[in-house]
Amino acid sequence: MNLIKKLLAANAAVLALWAVSAQAATNDEIAERIKPVGEVCVQGQECKGIEAVAASAGGGAKTPDDIIAGHCGACHMAGVLGAPKIGDSADWKKRASEQGGLDGLLAKAISGINAMPPKGTCADCSDDELKATIKKMSGL
Ligand code: HEC
Repeated sequence: MNLIKKLLAANAAVLALWAVSAQAATNDEIAERIKPVGEVCVQGQECKGIEAVAASAGGGAKTPDDIIAGHCGACHMAGVLGAPKIGDSADWKKRASEQGGLDGLLAKAISGINAMPPKGTCADCSDDELKATIKKMSGL
């Protein structure tokens, strides 16, 4: 079998699996998928979902890992556009000494620098959360 045929066969297998799993969905799963996005909360009754919304709106503190996974990692994982890579301590050290330490790096992360967007796209990150994230990425 040549390579193209092999690839086609692999694709067909994936498609077949997908079709089987799509059909295996139960009515409950379908109901869950098509349920309305918003649910009305009545005063005096327990309202689930509210805590989840509050947490994602900045209620709970974000960990550096969350912030890296949701924002910084997109560029800093692979070094996109010349971003210092996570764990490349030589690059981070050089930058830290140019900016006057961790607080200098924090200031640049907040304002943005060249291709680095302000707050690394995490608009609702606090300064402390950003600082902890920079510490984690740089190992400083
Ligand atoms: C869109 C890609 C992108 C994202 C997302 C991103 N960065 Fe960056 N970052 C860069 C690039 C590119 C640079 C290098 C800029 C330069 O020196 O020209 C950089 C540099 C930095 C620096 C060093 C600044 C300096 O003065 O040398 C810090 C600190 C930093 N990023 C923190 C973060 C944090 C924290 C996040 C997540 C909240 C983040 N970045 C998300 C692209 C990104």
